[in-house]
Amino acid sequence: MNMNQQEGRVLRSLEGPAWDLVAYAKTGGYEAWRKCVADSKPQEIVEEIKRSGLRGRGGAGFPTGVKWDKVLNHRVKERYFVCNAGEHEPGTFKDRHLLKHAPHQLIEGCLIASYTVGAKASFLYVNHEYHEEQENLQKALAQAREKGYIGKNVFGSGRDLDLEVFSGQGSYVAGEETAMLESMQGRPAMPRQKPPFYPTDFGLYGKPTLVNNVETLCNIPLILRKGASWFNEVGTEKCPGTMLFSLSGAVTRPGIYELPLGTPLRDLVERCGGGVPNGRKVKAVFPGGPAFPMVTADQLDLQMDFDSLKKAGTGLGSAGVIVVDDATCMVAKTLHFSNFFKGESCGQCPSCRMGTINLASLMTKIEAGEGTQKDLDTLLQIAGFVKGTGYCTLVTGAAVLVQSALKLFQDEFEAHIRLQRCPYQPAPVTAGSA
Ligand SMILES: Cc1cc2nc3c(=O)[nH]c(=O)nc-3n(C[C@H](O)[C@H](O)[C@H](O)COP(=O)(O)O)c2cc1C
Repeated sequence: MNMNQQEGRVLRSLEGPAWDLVAYAKTGGYEAWRKCVADSKPQEIVEEIKRSGLRGRGGAGFPTGVKWDKVLNHRVKERYFVCNAGEHEPGTFKDRHLLKHAPHQLIEGCLIASYTVGAKASFLYVNHEYHEEQENLQKALAQAREKGYIGKNVFGSGRDLDLEVFSGQGSYVAGEETAMLESMQGRPAMPRQKPPFYPTDFGLYGKPTLVNNVETLCNIPLILRKGASWFNEVGTEKCPGTMLFSLSGAVTRPGIYELPLGTPLRDLVERCGGGVPNGRKVKAVFPGGPAFPMVTADQLDLQMDFDSLKKAGTGLGSAGVIVVDDATCMVAKTLHFSNFFKGESCGQCPSCRMGTINLASLMTKIEAGEGTQKDLDTLLQIAGFVKGTGYCTLVTGAAVLVQSALKLFQDEFEAHIRLQRCPYQPAPVTAGSA
């Protein structure tokens, strides 16, 4: 995998064996944490994070300082902190990289978050398939404990603060924060109804809980060490800082690229990714993974940030950018992701359970050349009906995927119906042909 540090803020600190505590400390690691424990008031930390304008990197882009403030100033004093390293979305792999190569940076971010909101206990919820990353994290935690950076009597301050690794439940939905919290309490990983059950009010054990993504937390030590104005000198006014883009699909150099938010999609695909290989062209791009509408080749100048993509009718999500070339059947591609959503629905909400099954089965029928014009109407009817109806956004993702494919590539759907086969597959050999 190519690790191209285009902007190199979060990733720059990974130069050298960054998972080693000594190497990390040499680059200023744990300085921010030491300062917090020594002389920072939690509200001052929150204000600095607010000034930075940092927005969550886990998908929703929610302002991090606002969330911290809510938990810090909650009337209920028993609070929890959870780092979300569930990462299960197709095309997103940046948290894995941070877990593997920057565990101390992440641990430092977690300690600061946990200290700031006054958490009673703190956890790292990690994708159960990330074995090596979990091992690394345990090693790094042991190193930090040995040095007295975490555990009992941190930096001789009389404070106790520890972090525990929790191996994840192993599904996409389990990364949704309320489903994650449910699973951590030994229950099925099913999302809670929101409102009212937002984790900041009703989290782990029903208590206020701060949940943040790995990348969000890796930005925290840098912001506190270098200052909010250093952080927001790149990016856009409303979406400051850099983002780690996981670039995959039809590009010459797939990998993780750290770029300022607001960078044109073309820069990512062409300059960083080296463009589409084999003389092919871009046909479509999923700018925020399969749960947000696709964009087409004429939209490569779109700015990659939460607000610009929302304005363009799509979204950034966790910046899992998937490029599709012009040799690809868009019906087959859509079917692939429809099957993903069907397989990952937890089944709790009837509209999601049935909606994802029905969308995937109609897509299967059309890709097999057995669809009718009426099936296209039914697809749109189901998508419109189920969109926005679940306790989480999985079913909305499944619906907008199909809506966007039909809007942008209706001709391909119609060709499948007309030819009664996939036009991208070789035509069947008929009797009598040589
Ligand atoms: C189906 C689904 C899966 C999700 N998976 C993840 C995940 O793996 N990691 C993550 O950080 N956020 C995930 N989220 C978003 C979380 O619910 C939550 O918004 C995020 O962890 C908050 O952290 P942030 O504010 O730092 O972005 C997912 C959301 C949905 C709807």
